[in-house]
Amino acid sequence: MKVPYFDLRRQYKDIKPQLERRVIGTLRSTQYSLGGEVELFESNFSSFLEANYCTGVNTGTSALHLALLALGIGKGDEVITVSMTFIATVMSISYTGAKPVFVDIDKKTQLINYKNIIKKISSKTKAIVVVHLYGQCAEMNEINKIAKKYKLRVIEDSSQAHGAKYFNKYAGTMSDVGTFSFYPGKNLGAIGEGGAIITNNSKLDKKVKELRNWSQPKRYFHNEISYNYRMDSIQAAALNIKLKFLKKWTLKRRKIASEYQSRIKNDKLEFTYAKPHNFHVYHIFSLFHKNRASLQKYLNKNEIGTNFHYPVPAHLQKPYISLGHKKGDFPITELISNYQISIPIFPEMKNDEVEYVIKIINKF
Ligand SMILES: Cc1ncc(COP(=O)(O)O)c(C=O)c1O
Repeated sequence: MKVPYFDLRRQYKDIKPQLERRVIGTLRSTQYSLGGEVELFESNFSSFLEANYCTGVNTGTSALHLALLALGIGKGDEVITVSMTFIATVMSISYTGAKPVFVDIDKKTQLINYKNIIKKISSKTKAIVVVHLYGQCAEMNEINKIAKKYKLRVIEDSSQAHGAKYFNKYAGTMSDVGTFSFYPGKNLGAIGEGGAIITNNSKLDKKVKELRNWSQPKRYFHNEISYNYRMDSIQAAALNIKLKFLKKWTLKRRKIASEYQSRIKNDKLEFTYAKPHNFHVYHIFSLFHKNRASLQKYLNKNEIGTNFHYPVPAHLQKPYISLGHKKGDFPITELISNYQISIPIFPEMKNDEVEYVIKIINKF
Protein backbone atom coordinates (compact mmCIF):
# COMPACT_ATOMS: atom_id res chain seq x y z
CA MET A 1 0.00 0.00 0.00
CA LYS A 2 1.09 3.57 -0.69
CA VAL A 3 0.07 6.31 1.76
CA PRO A 4 0.93 9.81 0.58
CA TYR A 5 1.88 12.46 3.13
CA PHE A 6 -1.00 14.51 1.77
CA ASP A 7 -3.28 14.28 -1.27
CA LEU A 8 -5.30 17.32 -2.28
CA ARG A 9 -6.80 15.50 -5.26
CA ARG A 10 -9.11 13.59 -2.93
CA GLN A 11 -10.51 16.76 -1.38
CA TYR A 12 -11.01 18.24 -4.85
CA LYS A 13 -12.86 15.13 -6.00
CA ASP A 14 -15.17 15.23 -2.94
CA ILE A 15 -16.29 18.82 -3.47
CA LYS A 16 -15.74 19.17 -7.23
CA PRO A 17 -19.26 20.14 -8.43
CA GLN A 18 -19.85 22.92 -5.87
CA LEU A 19 -16.29 24.18 -6.02
CA GLU A 20 -16.26 24.36 -9.82
CA ARG A 21 -19.72 25.97 -9.98
CA ARG A 22 -18.64 28.72 -7.59
CA VAL A 23 -15.25 29.30 -9.22
CA ILE A 24 -16.75 29.44 -12.71
CA GLY A 25 -19.40 31.83 -11.41
CA THR A 26 -16.63 34.11 -10.18
CA LEU A 27 -14.77 33.76 -13.47
CA ARG A 28 -17.92 34.82 -15.32
CA SER A 29 -18.53 37.72 -12.93
CA THR A 30 -15.17 39.24 -13.98
CA GLN A 31 -14.77 40.62 -10.45
CA TYR A 32 -11.32 39.18 -9.77
CA SER A 33 -9.89 41.18 -6.89
CA LEU A 34 -11.69 41.96 -3.61
CA GLY A 35 -15.45 42.46 -4.22
CA GLY A 36 -18.45 40.42 -3.15
CA GLU A 37 -16.85 37.00 -2.67
CA VAL A 38 -14.05 38.48 -0.56
CA GLU A 39 -16.51 40.48 1.58
CA LEU A 40 -18.64 37.37 2.01
CA PHE A 41 -15.61 35.33 3.04
CA GLU A 42 -14.57 38.00 5.54
CA SER A 43 -18.02 37.86 7.06
CA ASN A 44 -18.17 34.03 7.00
CA PHE A 45 -14.73 33.55 8.51
CA SER A 46 -15.19 36.12 11.28
CA SER A 47 -18.56 34.53 12.17
CA PHE A 48 -16.98 31.09 12.16
CA LEU A 49 -14.33 32.29 14.62
CA GLU A 50 -16.82 34.35 16.67
CA ALA A 51 -14.70 37.43 16.05
CA ASN A 52 -15.69 40.93 14.97
CA TYR A 53 -13.56 41.61 11.91
CA CYS A 54 -11.70 39.80 9.15
CA THR A 55 -9.54 41.15 6.31
CA GLY A 56 -8.76 38.87 3.39
CA VAL A 57 -5.24 39.18 1.97
CA ASN A 58 -3.06 37.38 -0.56
CA THR A 59 -0.94 35.21 1.79
CA GLY A 60 -0.46 34.32 5.43
CA THR A 61 2.89 36.08 5.31
CA SER A 62 1.23 39.35 4.21
CA ALA A 63 -1.30 38.89 7.01
CA LEU A 64 1.55 38.76 9.55
CA HIS A 65 3.33 41.71 7.94
CA LEU A 66 0.20 43.91 8.01
CA ALA A 67 -0.72 42.86 11.54
CA LEU A 68 2.73 43.94 12.76
CA LEU A 69 2.59 47.23 10.80
CA ALA A 70 -0.90 48.02 12.03
CA LEU A 71 0.35 47.57 15.60
CA GLY A 72 3.06 50.14 14.88
CA ILE A 73 6.00 47.71 14.91
CA GLY A 74 9.06 48.92 13.00
CA LYS A 75 12.76 49.68 12.99
CA GLY A 76 14.38 49.68 16.41
CA ASP A 77 11.69 47.45 17.95
CA GLU A 78 12.09 43.92 19.20
CA VAL A 79 9.47 41.23 18.71
CA ILE A 80 9.53 38.03 20.75
CA THR A 81 8.71 34.81 18.95
CA VAL A 82 9.79 31.19 18.53
CA SER A 83 12.50 29.72 16.36
CA MET A 84 10.50 26.49 15.91
CA THR A 85 8.09 27.71 13.23
CA PHE A 86 7.78 28.12 9.49
CA ILE A 87 10.19 30.90 8.53
CA ALA A 88 7.35 33.29 7.50
CA THR A 89 6.63 34.07 11.16
CA VAL A 90 10.15 35.38 11.58
CA MET A 91 10.64 36.97 8.17
CA SER A 92 7.47 39.04 8.52
CA ILE A 93 9.01 40.59 11.65
CA SER A 94 12.16 41.35 9.64
CA TYR A 95 10.08 42.99 6.86
CA THR A 96 9.05 45.70 9.34
CA GLY A 97 12.66 46.41 10.27
CA ALA A 98 12.13 45.05 13.79
CA LYS A 99 14.41 42.42 15.33
CA PRO A 100 13.09 38.92 16.04
CA VAL A 101 14.03 37.79 19.55
CA PHE A 102 13.63 34.07 20.08
CA VAL A 103 12.48 32.11 23.10
CA ASP A 104 12.73 28.37 23.54
CA ILE A 105 9.70 26.07 23.38
CA ASP A 106 8.08 23.62 25.76
CA LYS A 107 9.39 20.09 25.27
CA LYS A 108 6.03 18.33 25.53
CA THR A 109 3.89 20.59 23.32
CA GLN A 110 6.57 22.23 21.13
CA LEU A 111 4.73 25.54 21.75
CA ILE A 112 6.24 28.76 23.06
CA ASN A 113 7.28 28.29 26.69
CA TYR A 114 5.76 31.37 28.30
CA LYS A 115 8.11 30.96 31.26
CA ASN A 116 10.98 31.98 28.94
CA ILE A 117 9.34 35.20 27.76
CA ILE A 118 10.01 37.58 30.65
CA LYS A 119 13.78 37.25 30.57
CA LYS A 120 13.78 38.27 26.90
CA ILE A 121 11.78 41.47 27.42
CA SER A 122 13.87 44.63 26.99
CA SER A 123 13.04 48.33 26.73
CA LYS A 124 12.75 47.77 22.95
CA THR A 125 10.26 44.89 23.10
CA LYS A 126 6.94 45.82 21.52
CA ALA A 127 5.17 42.57 20.77
CA ILE A 128 4.99 38.80 21.02
CA VAL A 129 4.15 36.68 17.98
CA VAL A 130 2.72 33.43 19.29
CA VAL A 131 2.56 30.43 16.93
CA HIS A 132 -0.19 27.86 17.44
CA LEU A 133 2.11 25.17 16.08
CA TYR A 134 0.88 21.94 14.45
CA GLY A 135 -2.76 22.95 15.20
CA GLN A 136 -2.63 23.43 18.98
CA CYS A 137 -3.04 26.73 20.85
CA ALA A 138 -0.28 28.12 23.03
CA GLU A 139 -0.94 29.07 26.68
CA MET A 140 -2.76 32.31 25.85
CA ASN A 141 -3.93 33.18 29.38
CA GLU A 142 -0.37 33.22 30.67
CA ILE A 143 0.98 35.00 27.59
CA ASN A 144 -1.72 37.69 27.74
CA LYS A 145 -0.97 38.25 31.44
CA ILE A 146 2.71 38.90 30.64
CA ALA A 147 1.77 41.13 27.69
CA LYS A 148 -0.56 43.19 29.87
CA LYS A 149 2.05 43.63 32.60
CA TYR A 150 4.78 44.74 30.17
CA LYS A 151 2.44 46.61 27.78
CA LEU A 152 3.21 44.40 24.79
CA ARG A 153 0.99 43.68 21.82
CA VAL A 154 0.20 40.05 20.95
CA ILE A 155 -0.26 38.48 17.52
CA GLU A 156 -1.40 34.89 17.11
CA ASP A 157 0.06 33.22 14.02
CA SER A 158 -2.80 30.78 13.50
CA SER A 159 -1.70 29.56 10.07
CA GLN A 160 -1.74 25.95 11.29
CA ALA A 161 -4.73 26.28 13.60
CA HIS A 162 -7.96 26.99 11.69
CA GLY A 163 -10.76 26.20 14.14
CA ALA A 164 -8.44 25.21 17.01
CA LYS A 165 -9.65 26.23 20.46
CA TYR A 166 -8.07 27.19 23.78
CA PHE A 167 -10.75 26.55 26.40
CA ASN A 168 -13.78 28.00 24.55
CA LYS A 169 -11.96 30.53 22.35
CA TYR A 170 -10.79 30.14 18.79
CA ALA A 171 -7.15 30.46 17.73
CA GLY A 172 -6.60 33.93 16.34
CA THR A 173 -9.21 35.65 18.52
CA MET A 174 -7.53 35.82 21.92
CA SER A 175 -5.13 38.72 21.38
CA ASP A 176 -4.77 42.00 19.46
CA VAL A 177 -4.64 40.28 16.07
CA GLY A 178 -4.78 36.76 14.65
CA THR A 179 -3.38 35.80 11.27
CA PHE A 180 -4.16 32.86 8.99
CA SER A 181 -2.68 31.29 5.88
CA PHE A 182 -4.85 29.57 3.28
CA TYR A 183 -1.96 27.97 1.43
CA PRO A 184 -3.53 24.96 -0.37
CA GLY A 185 -2.17 22.41 2.12
CA LYS A 186 -3.59 24.14 5.20
CA ASN A 187 -6.62 22.78 7.11
CA LEU A 188 -8.58 25.46 5.24
CA GLY A 189 -6.78 25.97 1.95
CA ALA A 190 -7.44 28.14 -1.08
CA ILE A 191 -6.92 27.01 -4.68
CA GLY A 192 -3.82 29.17 -4.75
CA GLU A 193 -2.53 31.58 -2.12
CA GLY A 194 -4.53 33.38 0.55
CA GLY A 195 -4.44 34.78 4.06
CA ALA A 196 -6.54 36.65 6.60
CA ILE A 197 -6.26 38.98 9.55
CA ILE A 198 -8.71 38.66 12.43
CA THR A 199 -9.32 41.25 15.12
CA ASN A 200 -11.97 42.50 17.52
CA ASN A 201 -10.56 46.03 17.34
CA SER A 202 -12.27 48.27 14.77
CA LYS A 203 -9.30 50.66 14.49
CA LEU A 204 -6.87 47.83 13.72
CA ASP A 205 -9.32 46.40 11.22
CA LYS A 206 -9.59 49.73 9.43
CA LYS A 207 -5.82 50.07 9.41
CA VAL A 208 -5.11 46.65 7.88
CA LYS A 209 -7.82 47.20 5.26
CA GLU A 210 -6.10 50.44 4.24
CA LEU A 211 -2.62 48.92 4.22
CA ARG A 212 -3.61 45.94 2.04
CA ASN A 213 -4.87 48.22 -0.75
CA TRP A 214 -2.46 51.13 -1.22
CA SER A 215 -4.00 53.22 1.55
CA GLN A 216 -6.24 55.13 -0.82
CA PRO A 217 -9.41 56.56 0.70
CA LYS A 218 -10.01 57.99 -2.75
CA ARG A 219 -8.65 56.32 -5.89
CA TYR A 220 -5.10 57.49 -6.72
CA PHE A 221 -4.83 59.54 -3.51
CA HIS A 222 -2.56 57.77 -1.01
CA ASN A 223 -2.01 58.36 2.69
CA GLU A 224 1.14 56.37 3.43
CA ILE A 225 3.54 53.71 2.15
CA SER A 226 1.31 50.70 1.78
CA TYR A 227 0.87 47.47 -0.18
CA ASN A 228 -1.01 45.46 -2.75
CA TYR A 229 -1.91 42.50 -0.52
CA ARG A 230 -5.48 42.16 -1.78
CA MET A 231 -7.27 38.81 -1.74
CA ASP A 232 -8.28 37.30 -5.10
CA SER A 233 -12.01 36.84 -5.61
CA ILE A 234 -11.53 33.32 -6.96
CA GLN A 235 -9.64 32.34 -3.80
CA ALA A 236 -12.44 33.80 -1.66
CA ALA A 237 -15.04 31.90 -3.71
CA ALA A 238 -13.20 28.62 -3.12
CA LEU A 239 -12.76 29.42 0.58
CA ASN A 240 -16.48 30.21 0.94
CA ILE A 241 -17.23 26.68 -0.28
CA LYS A 242 -14.46 24.97 1.69
CA LEU A 243 -15.25 26.73 4.97
CA LYS A 244 -18.56 24.80 5.05
CA PHE A 245 -16.55 21.57 5.36
CA LEU A 246 -13.94 22.71 7.87
CA LYS A 247 -15.72 21.37 10.97
CA LYS A 248 -16.26 17.96 9.37
CA TRP A 249 -12.67 17.81 8.09
CA THR A 250 -11.33 18.77 11.52
CA LEU A 251 -13.26 15.98 13.25
CA LYS A 252 -11.79 13.55 10.73
CA ARG A 253 -8.26 14.77 11.51
CA ARG A 254 -8.94 14.41 15.24
CA LYS A 255 -10.26 10.89 14.75
CA ILE A 256 -7.11 9.83 12.88
CA ALA A 257 -4.95 11.47 15.57
CA SER A 258 -6.79 9.59 18.27
CA GLU A 259 -6.27 6.28 16.42
CA TYR A 260 -2.56 7.03 16.16
CA GLN A 261 -2.30 8.04 19.82
CA SER A 262 -4.08 5.00 21.17
CA ARG A 263 -2.70 2.37 18.83
CA ILE A 264 0.86 3.29 17.91
CA LYS A 265 2.83 1.33 20.48
CA ASN A 266 6.53 1.82 20.26
CA ASP A 267 8.67 2.51 23.35
CA LYS A 268 11.08 4.70 21.44
CA LEU A 269 8.43 7.01 20.01
CA GLU A 270 6.83 10.06 21.56
CA PHE A 271 3.90 12.22 20.43
CA THR A 272 3.16 15.91 20.82
CA TYR A 273 1.26 16.30 24.09
CA ALA A 274 -2.23 17.70 23.48
CA LYS A 275 -3.34 19.66 26.54
CA PRO A 276 -6.81 18.68 27.79
CA HIS A 277 -8.14 22.25 27.57
CA ASN A 278 -7.07 22.51 23.92
CA PHE A 279 -9.08 21.54 20.87
CA HIS A 280 -6.15 20.47 18.68
CA VAL A 281 -6.89 20.48 14.93
CA TYR A 282 -3.89 18.36 13.88
CA HIS A 283 -2.62 20.26 10.88
CA ILE A 284 0.49 18.18 11.52
CA PHE A 285 0.80 14.91 13.40
CA SER A 286 4.23 14.85 15.01
CA LEU A 287 6.28 11.93 16.25
CA PHE A 288 9.66 12.10 17.94
CA HIS A 289 12.34 9.48 17.63
CA LYS A 290 16.05 9.62 18.47
CA ASN A 291 16.82 8.00 15.14
CA ARG A 292 14.33 9.76 12.95
CA ALA A 293 16.48 9.41 9.81
CA SER A 294 16.18 5.63 9.93
CA LEU A 295 12.47 5.90 10.80
CA GLN A 296 11.96 8.11 7.77
CA LYS A 297 13.92 5.75 5.54
CA TYR A 298 11.89 2.82 6.84
CA LEU A 299 8.53 4.61 6.35
CA ASN A 300 9.46 5.79 2.88
CA LYS A 301 10.62 2.27 1.95
CA ASN A 302 7.14 1.14 3.00
CA GLU A 303 5.67 3.93 0.84
CA ILE A 304 4.44 6.12 3.67
CA GLY A 305 5.01 9.84 3.10
CA THR A 306 6.79 11.87 5.79
CA ASN A 307 8.00 15.39 6.46
CA PHE A 308 10.08 17.30 9.04
CA HIS A 309 8.61 20.36 10.79
CA TYR A 310 11.15 21.92 10.94
CA PRO A 311 14.63 20.53 10.24
CA VAL A 312 16.54 23.82 10.75
CA PRO A 313 15.18 26.23 13.35
CA ALA A 314 14.99 29.90 12.36
CA HIS A 315 17.88 31.02 14.58
CA LEU A 316 20.24 28.72 12.64
CA GLN A 317 18.97 29.68 9.17
CA LYS A 318 21.26 31.69 6.89
CA PRO A 319 19.24 34.94 6.86
CA TYR A 320 19.54 35.09 10.65
CA ILE A 321 23.27 34.47 11.01
CA SER A 322 23.64 38.20 11.73
CA LEU A 323 21.69 37.76 14.97
CA GLY A 324 24.74 35.89 16.23
CA HIS A 325 23.07 32.74 17.51
CA LYS A 326 24.94 29.48 17.77
CA LYS A 327 24.02 25.83 18.20
CA GLY A 328 22.88 25.22 21.76
CA ASP A 329 21.19 28.62 22.26
CA PHE A 330 17.70 27.08 22.22
CA PRO A 331 18.22 23.46 23.32
CA ILE A 332 14.60 22.25 23.19
CA THR A 333 14.01 23.83 19.78
CA GLU A 334 17.15 22.17 18.47
CA LEU A 335 16.27 18.82 20.04
CA ILE A 336 12.86 18.90 18.34
CA SER A 337 14.38 19.92 15.00
CA ASN A 338 16.57 16.80 15.19
CA TYR A 339 13.96 14.29 16.37
CA GLN A 340 10.63 15.43 14.89
CA ILE A 341 8.95 13.58 12.02
CA SER A 342 5.45 14.17 10.61
CA ILE A 343 3.28 11.32 9.39
CA PRO A 344 0.23 11.44 7.08
CA ILE A 345 -2.90 13.06 8.48
CA PHE A 346 -5.59 14.49 6.21
CA PRO A 347 -9.39 14.20 6.30
CA GLU A 348 -9.66 12.02 3.20
CA MET A 349 -7.31 9.31 4.52
CA LYS A 350 -8.96 5.91 4.25
CA ASN A 351 -9.35 3.61 7.25
CA ASP A 352 -7.07 0.99 5.75
CA GLU A 353 -4.40 3.63 5.18
CA VAL A 354 -4.55 4.65 8.85
CA GLU A 355 -4.38 0.95 9.82
CA TYR A 356 -1.39 0.45 7.55
CA VAL A 357 0.52 3.42 9.00
CA ILE A 358 -0.10 2.12 12.54
CA LYS A 359 0.93 -1.43 11.62
CA ILE A 360 4.13 -0.35 9.88
CA ILE A 361 5.20 2.01 12.67
CA ASN A 362 4.52 -0.65 15.29
CA LYS A 363 6.91 -2.95 13.47
CA PHE A 364 9.74 -0.41 13.48
C1 LIG B 1 3.17 29.04 11.09
C2 LIG B 1 3.07 29.66 9.72
N1 LIG B 1 3.15 30.99 9.60
C3 LIG B 1 3.04 31.61 8.42
C4 LIG B 1 2.86 30.89 7.25
C5 LIG B 1 2.88 31.63 5.96
O1 LIG B 1 1.73 31.51 5.21
P1 LIG B 1 1.77 31.70 3.61
O2 LIG B 1 2.49 30.53 3.05
O3 LIG B 1 0.32 31.73 3.25
O4 LIG B 1 2.45 32.98 3.32
C6 LIG B 1 2.74 29.49 7.33
C7 LIG B 1 2.46 28.63 6.17
O5 LIG B 1 3.01 28.55 5.16
C8 LIG B 1 2.87 28.85 8.59
O6 LIG B 1 2.80 27.53 8.71
